[in-house]
Amino acid sequence: MTALLFSLSIILFFSLAKGLHTPKSCDETERGSTLQVFHVNSPCSPFRSKTPLSWQDTVLQMQSNDKARLQYLSSLVAGRSIAPIASGRVVTQNPTYIVRAKIGTPAQTLLVAVDTSNDAAWFPCNGCVGCSSTTFDSAKSSTFKPLPCGSPQCNQVPNPNCGGTTCGFNLTYGSSSVAATLVKDNITLAADSIPNYTFGCVGKATGGSTPAQGLLGLGRGPLSLLSQTGSLYQSTFSYCLPSYKSVGFTGSLRLGPNSQPKRIKTTQLLKNPRRSSFYYVNLMAIRVGKRVVSIPPSAFAFDPNTGAGTVFDSGTVFSSLVKPAYTAVRDEFRRRMGKATFSSLGGFDTCYSVPITVPTITFMFSGMNVTLPQDNFIIRSSAGTTSCLAMAAAPEGNVNSVLNVIASFQQQNHRILIDVPNSKLGVARESCS
Ligand SMILES: *[C@@H]1O[C@H](CO)[C@@H](O)[C@H](O)[C@H]1NC(C)=O
Ligand SMILES: *[C@@H]1O[C@H](CO)[C@@H](O)[C@H](O)[C@H]1NC(C)=O
Ligand SMILES: *[C@@H]1O[C@H](CO)[C@@H](O)[C@H](O)[C@H]1NC(C)=O
Ligand SMILES: *[C@@H]1O[C@H](CO)[C@@H](O)[C@H](O)[C@H]1NC(C)=O
Repeated sequence: MTALLFSLSIILFFSLAKGLHTPKSCDETERGSTLQVFHVNSPCSPFRSKTPLSWQDTVLQMQSNDKARLQYLSSLVAGRSIAPIASGRVVTQNPTYIVRAKIGTPAQTLLVAVDTSNDAAWFPCNGCVGCSSTTFDSAKSSTFKPLPCGSPQCNQVPNPNCGGTTCGFNLTYGSSSVAATLVKDNITLAADSIPNYTFGCVGKATGGSTPAQGLLGLGRGPLSLLSQTGSLYQSTFSYCLPSYKSVGFTGSLRLGPNSQPKRIKTTQLLKNPRRSSFYYVNLMAIRVGKRVVSIPPSAFAFDPNTGAGTVFDSGTVFSSLVKPAYTAVRDEFRRRMGKATFSSLGGFDTCYSVPITVPTITFMFSGMNVTLPQDNFIIRSSAGTTSCLAMAAAPEGNVNSVLNVIASFQQQNHRILIDVPNSKLGVARESCS
């Protein structure tokens, strides 16, 4: 997806990186509770795109994935979809970040997508029709167990299919569908072995775009990894996402309360009972340079009934703000660019093809101001000829315009700490690319 952007950047990047860093290996031994995080287009990823796109097409592709993702998130906040174990989005969309999960005894390694707005966990299983990638062979695991229809977990999957003795379920999303059974087995993450982990074992995938890999949801709803590992991880984790441009560098996912940063700015984590997997925060204002732009408070107001408010999400690439908020930020940004002529590129409406000096952008959350480095809000073509403000207005539509999403481009090279017991979300700069 970002292949050309990525390959064009290699040249520049290598010349900068040489002598500064040694690229980490793709299969470092993971110790303790810390996992390596790869961008899906990194050389360590088996899912990287094999057909390079132009820079423009790359950006358009990311935007188009975002549009589907935002519509999906909006349908969730609006309560239109109930999918605690597995959700439709993974059927039709590429993941952005992947981690290594080892399943069964002896452990079989799979690279799976991570998604902070999902509770889902499913892996493609042996004999799966339509799953293209490496699968989990349950017959080779001594700890594998299908869950019976009567099990309490079976009540939480969408469309349970209890024709047989095991708990089966089907998912549909657009023209794609997945048939899976609910099972349990050990999952090993870094050095932690978690017995009896409940997940979906995918046996068949049909439709336009079939899922290439499994999914490990890091949401906090029922049946999520956090809910299933109560005492081990105590609903606490942090991650640092590597830049989509970096080559051979990895970020990290640290599970559990140990070795989390102690000195980190935090804001209150809000809970929406109607959409329990999401990490809502209270975004109050946005500053462009020194000026707090004028945005009606309603643009940011948290409302559990409509799902309105602001979430941190790792599965969307570019942050999306409800229209009045985006327009105010963009207009102030343009004003600061003076007479420079702007153009648009797909969903970005503020692009410059001349060298520009940009103001800072600060997200002001309750109790925490986060001033973004340029690399977190300006996307530049590899040749450096085009620079765009890398945010967009929420897609228009009845249910799509209430949610602000702080997305992965804005989170790259920051450590994001999720501390559910203390209702805190922390942000600190960290160079993990
Ligand atoms: C799976 O869990 C069991 C305990 O339930 C344990 O004996 C076994 O070693 C675990 N397997 C792995 C690969 O950690
Ligand atoms: C689920 O999908 C499987 C495989 O495609 C199909 O055989 C089965 O009839 C479906 N079940 C339901 C309840 O739709
Ligand atoms: C896992 O589940 C099995 C029953 O399927 C049970 O005998 C075993 O004690 C459980 N192990 C743990 C560690 O909970
Ligand atoms: C955030 O910045 C504003 C000034 O723009 C300041 O008034 C406020 O105290 C800051 N908040 C925190 C938590 O530092």
